[in-house]
Amino acid sequence: MRIALGCDHGGWPLKDAVLEVLREEGHEVLDFGTHGPERVDYPDFAIPVAQAVAQGRADRGILMCGSGVGMSIAANKVAGAYAAVCHDTYSAHQGVEHDGMNVLCMGGRIIGPELAKEIVRAFVRAQFSGGERYVRRAQKVRDQEARCGQTQPPREP
Ligand code: RB5
Repeated sequence: MRIALGCDHGGWPLKDAVLEVLREEGHEVLDFGTHGPERVDYPDFAIPVAQAVAQGRADRGILMCGSGVGMSIAANKVAGAYAAVCHDTYSAHQGVEHDGMNVLCMGGRIIGPELAKEIVRAFVRAQFSGGERYVRRAQKVRDQEARCGQTQPPREP
């Protein structure tokens, strides 16, 4: 897969580990920065990564900030991006399988690089199940996106 990657200074401590595991797993990385530990603003990375996923330039996204929260809030403002904070491996694969999560968010002040690698492995190895109830629920989310009047056509999970 092609994975869009972004972080701020809070997520910076996880970046090398995440790059390493993505390369080990054979994925191509679109690196949206940041490229150093200096203080930056998370929406400047969350939104381009979410747009890359929503527009099909990337298959999935991974975002890292201090807690994962700011990144997930910003990414979810892009129609077609379905972002969530996951700090355990179960959520990382179940979020894809049941909920069509396509952007994983993690916090560099919450978890360390080794757990981040396991979470990333669970996320990239998971696929949407396609089960009828999961499709129905995902459609209700897309219906809400449409009611919000967002301009980009939402992507199928
Ligand atoms: C930056 O200090 C911090 O607020 C940010 O990385 C993130 O944790 C926001 O959710």
